Amino acid sequence: MAHIVITSGPTRQYLDPVRYLTNASSGRMGVSLAQAALDLGHQVTVISGPVSLDYPSEAKVLWVTTTQEMLDATRIAFSTADGLIGAAAPCDYMPEAVGTSKLQKTGNDITIHLKETPDIVATLAANKSPKQWVVAFALETEDVRFRAIVKLSRKACDMIVSNSAQAMNSDENNVEVILKGGTVLDQLYGPKPLVAAGILRLIDKHLIAPCANT
Ligand code: C5P
Repeated sequence: MAHIVITSGPTRQYLDPVRYLTNASSGRMGVSLAQAALDLGHQVTVISGPVSLDYPSEAKVLWVTTTQEMLDATRIAFSTADGLIGAAAPCDYMPEAVGTSKLQKTGNDITIHLKETPDIVATLAANKSPKQWVVAFALETEDVRFRAIVKLSRKACDMIVSNSAQAMNSDENNVEVILKGGTVLDQLYGPKPLVAAGILRLIDKHLIAPCANT
């Protein structure tokens, strides 16, 4: 049995108390991955941004709003866990300045300066112990496999699940699972629970079992 941390859903970066940047992630893949991990007997902690779905009751769920909050909660949970699956779609940019009261319209256009938020999987993969593993997701619209392999290496992850943009807010997914080094392990397609079960079987075989034997 492994303790697996799963990031899930979008994050939000506020411009003022009522307006924010976000994306269309529904959290459905995170729900399916959590259930698939539980079905294999693993302990699951989910760090979730705001979504309207329910996670399995056997999973511990920590709710966050911003990317920095997701990083902080994931760092703590991962420090005592075996592996991390980064299924969230964290907001990559945040406004440099956040208004404390609602921005008022003046009749003039405004310019908002954005800065990059921290990368959760890259930060934690860079500091993990040799026995811990990190799995990332990659969502691309073109050169899908090539960009996923580049991301796998740049973020120093152990495995990457490459999917296309149609996975966003859909009940279905179509993915390629790629191991560190670039080996394509499998292609999985169908309803997200089925795809998640396939991903967890590959994680068990290629990341969890080898650690148990060392
Ligand atoms: O770079 P991109 O957003 O395509 O990378 C996707 C992978 O990186 C996913 O596993 C996602 O959860 C993770 N990620 C992250 N923190 C970010 C952005 C992406 O953990 N700020």
